[in-house]
Amino acid sequence: MRGIAGKVALVTGGAAGIGAAACRRLVAEGARVAIGDIDHDKAQALAAELGTDALALAFDAEDTDSIKALVDSTVAHFGRLDFLFNNAALVSREVIGQDSNPVDIDFAIWDRTMAVNARGYLAGCKYAIPHMLKTGSGGAIVMTASGSGLLGDLSNIAYAASKAAIMSMARTVATQYGKQGIRCNAINPGLIQVEARKNMPAPVVEIMLRNTLVPRLGLPEDIGGMVAFLCSDDGAFITGQAINVDGGLQSHMPYYADFASGGAKWS
Ligand SMILES: NC(=O)c1ccc[n+]([C@@H]2O[C@H](COP(=O)([O-])OP(=O)(O)OC[C@H]3O[C@@H](n4cnc5c(N)ncnc54)[C@H](O)[C@@H]3O)[C@@H](O)[C@H]2O)c1
Repeated sequence: MRGIAGKVALVTGGAAGIGAAACRRLVAEGARVAIGDIDHDKAQALAAELGTDALALAFDAEDTDSIKALVDSTVAHFGRLDFLFNNAALVSREVIGQDSNPVDIDFAIWDRTMAVNARGYLAGCKYAIPHMLKTGSGGAIVMTASGSGLLGDLSNIAYAASKAAIMSMARTVATQYGKQGIRCNAINPGLIQVEARKNMPAPVVEIMLRNTLVPRLGLPEDIGGMVAFLCSDDGAFITGQAINVDGGLQSHMPYYADFASGGAKWS
């Protein structure tokens, strides 16, 4: 991909899953990458795998001071910042399990989810954009949203609202900084088979696969490739978008899966 070699990227939640795949792809395309994660051991293991082009940094997306320190340490180490992949989110079972509906949810779960998922991404932009502007050639921001930000669900009201906020934030940042050369886009992954989701109930996985238009579920590399593309000059005319990378999960009529599997007929 054009325009990535020699650039510097910061990836939050970079130690595992989608973030790790993005780190690997960006380095493969010639970037140097700061891997920001609350799990420092995992971030260090990935940095060791990637060599001198990678740096592991510990931070907590719930703590805005630590996000500032993350950005500052990236620039201190690599000398510049061109790309930000805002990706870390509160996806732990403990929190997601209590993220229910407006009647039952505890406000603390709402506040924590919004602090990590929405305010954390805002803070990433707040501290990264001034450094991107200093490069003189702008930069690119990519944010991981989710299909949950587009579609209603039976639980996870806070997670869904935070992901919708991210899409709106991406459009707004794109609008506010586009003329200064900074592009900003969101990605809505479908069900991506990261280690942390491997214990999803089998019936849920089966329904998701039946509703995916391609023969398989998503892989972290599917999102990593889109991140690199959106950062690259090949994506230079794409900004302010929320792009579904979901194997067609959100692109069909509600009866698709039943008809396709022979479980229902037109007449
Ligand atoms: N996997 C999917 O199917 C899927 C679908 C839609 C959206 N997403 C989104 O993709 C992003 C990445 O998730 P993933 O599936 O790769 O999960 P993952 O658990 O594999 O990776 C998440 C990473 O974020 C880190 N992290 C968690 N909380 C943090 C915090 N407070 N501060 C810093 N780092 C923190 C974790 O340590 C981990 O390394 C999230 O924004 C998630 O909402 C995932």
